[in-house]
This record gives sequence, C-alpha cells and structure tokens, in this order.
Amino acid sequence: MQQVKGVIARAKDAPVELVTINVPDPGPGEAVVTIQACGVCHTDLHYRQGGINDEFPFLLGHEAAGVVESVGEGVTEVAPGDFVVLNWRAVCGQCRACKRGDLQYCFATHNAKQRMTLEDGTELSPALGIGAFIEKTLVAAGQCTKVDPEARPAAAGLLGCGVMAGIGAAINTGALTRGRSAAVIGCGGVGVAAVAGAALAGASPIIAVDIDPAKLEAATKMGATHTVDSSRVDPVEEIKRICAETYEGAEGADVVIEAVGRPETWKQAFYARDLAGTVVLVGVPTPDMTVPDLPLIDVFGRGGALKSSWYGDCLPSRDFPMLIDLYRQGRLDLDAFVTEEIGIEDVEAAFEKMHHGDVLRSVVVL
Ligand code: APR
Ligand code: ZN
Ligand code: ZN
Repeated sequence: MQQVKGVIARAKDAPVELVTINVPDPGPGEAVVTIQACGVCHTDLHYRQGGINDEFPFLLGHEAAGVVESVGEGVTEVAPGDFVVLNWRAVCGQCRACKRGDLQYCFATHNAKQRMTLEDGTELSPALGIGAFIEKTLVAAGQCTKVDPEARPAAAGLLGCGVMAGIGAAINTGALTRGRSAAVIGCGGVGVAAVAGAALAGASPIIAVDIDPAKLEAATKMGATHTVDSSRVDPVEEIKRICAETYEGAEGADVVIEAVGRPETWKQAFYARDLAGTVVLVGVPTPDMTVPDLPLIDVFGRGGALKSSWYGDCLPSRDFPMLIDLYRQGRLDLDAFVTEEIGIEDVEAAFEKMHHGDVLRSVVVL
C-alpha cells in the first residue's frame, strides 16, 4: 500500500478537494499506474454535481496517460515501465457482445473494482473505474493500452475519453469514408474531435455547426471545410445547400454527428441528413430529455440510420495505438486539444472554465 494525493468530490455539488488516498498494491489482474497527465472531462463535472451516479465520495479524472509502476499476479497485457493510455472499456471476452465479435460493445467491462480508500478507510468510487486526478492509480490491467512512449502525455491521455468519443463517432459509428459528406453540430472538445475524425477518414465537405464563432475557428483548424453559425442562420438549410454544391442532388449530409446532447440539435441533425444518411448522437442527453415529436413518415421516408455512439464505439487496443501513430506522423493534431496545462490543485478552476465554454481541454499535468 502507498499514500498519494488525489482529487475527490466528497458530496453532491461540493467543490473538489485534494486529499491523501491509500492505493493498495495491485492484486491479480491489476496494475498501479503513475499518472503523468489527465484531461478534465464533462463527465467528471457530472460526477461532482451528482444525479448520474451518487456513489460519493468520487475519485475524479479518467482521461489519462502514465507509466505502469507495478502489476499484480497473472498480468501479461502490460509490464512495469510501459507507457499507457487508460481506457474504461476493458473488454470481458465473455459477454454476448464479445462472443459475437463486437468487442467494442462489451457490456460487462472488467474495469477496476473499488479498492482505493481515503486515509480513514472510506471506500472511493473511481470515475469510470479509473480515478486519475491522482499521483498513482489502481486499475484493471485491461484498462491499460500500451502506446508509443514518444507521445506527449497531455495529448495522448485525451484519447482515453472525449477525443476518442468524437473521432470514433466519425470513423467507427458514422463509418465515414472518402466520397461522403459530414456535418458536426456542436464543436466543443467532442465535436471538434469528430471533425478531426471526419478529416482523417477523407470525408468532404466537412461542415462544422456551432453558436460560438470561436468554436467554429477551432473546427476549421481541425479540418472543417465549411462553418455554420447556427445562432444566425438555419443550420439545416445551410447543410443542405453546401452538400448540394459539392454533390449534385444531395439533400443533406451523408453523416450528421450531434455533439451537443439536446433535443433541438438532435432534430436539426435528423433533418440535415441526406436520403439514407446516418445520424450519430454522441452528445449525452440528460435523463429527462425525450426524442422530439417527429412525424413517423419523416423517419421512414428518408431511410438511413439513427445511431448513438458510446465512447466512439472504440476498441482501445485497436484505436489508441493507431491514433497515436497518426499523431506522431503529424496527421492528427492532438496537441491542439490541449488548451492549457494545469496543476492537480486547479481542477475546480477548470470546472469553472468549462461552464464558460472557453477551453477545449484543460489537462492536469503531474
Ligand atoms: N447549436 C449548436 N451548438 C451548440 C448549441 C446549439 N444549440 N448549444 C451549444 N452548442 C455548442 C457549444 O457552443 C459548444 O461548443 O456545443 C458545444 C458543446 O461543447 P462542450 O460544452 O465543450 O462539450 P463537449 O466536451 O464537446 O461535449 C459535448 O458530448 O460527451 C458529451 O457530455 C458531453 O454532452 C456533452 C457533449
Ligand atoms: Zn464483453
Ligand atoms: Zn470523459
């Protein structure tokens, strides 16, 4: 056992605290990882606010990269000294999804059990089975994905959640390819990552939609070919117009990715898709939201697919090393997502900035 500093949310809506945490030695199938960097994700804020899950106290942080310090009995996936990005999809290999070969949909993930405690022995809930605003964390070995150690930790760690969710919505769920058009509604960290994914896939045009001009600028840097300020113009009409300019007869985008998580923007995505186009929902709705009232004939008549994308339908063992490789080659600018590097004591301030929406990602660097 060792004692380290980590950031917890002690109770619903209470400001986070930096406290001492007991990290046990890794047991069978576990690893202790020295955290080098961890991004501040909206989900951490949701945990701190309560509502989605009320197992306080939470150990926050789940978008991280670091070096394996030690491993428990029987661990073969990683060894001490390996540079890893942590994932919250440690596939079980046994559930129905895994058995039919769809490991990215595993619904019985073997993420870490709750074994870290406060100094007085109180059990902690690590966010998404990780808990990485901490000097060292205990995870399941399957949550460690080995990647090229030359990658900058602050950039690499972002693949652990938000950036992967966005890129994966484009390349995995939306299955974008060359010759297909894409529109992304909402260009925060997740939406801009979806734009980057669409660019990697060779999609064109790539239309970025947001109500904030600064976000549209960030989207252009990531590969958007067109931008639409939906506070000023009707985004559905604009998407249709731009796509028809490129592909004669197009009535919208082949893939429309919704990265806000609201019924209005979901409806825009729905009507901006081309005939037989795909709508991908990656923005997380709140539990009280329902599908907007739509004529069933509009669902039926246009054909296509309505999909939700959970963690970008990623398979960490396949997608993390691939994206790090593209980053190392200069084809994916992960550094551009890192708006600022902050200390572990600044998580609360980063949550504040998130409310104002002026950063893509604040990243805690240790
Ligand atoms: N139309 C278009 N864009 C909008 C609208 C709207 N009506 N309302 C908000 N936006 C934009 C914001 O301006 C912002 O750029 O959506 C973006 C949301 O981005 P962030 O708040 O930075 O959130 P992000 O981290 O990108 O996550 C987006 O995905 O994973 C989920 O929980 C996350 O639901 C959230 C979503
Ligand atoms: Zn499984
Ligand atoms: Zn997250």
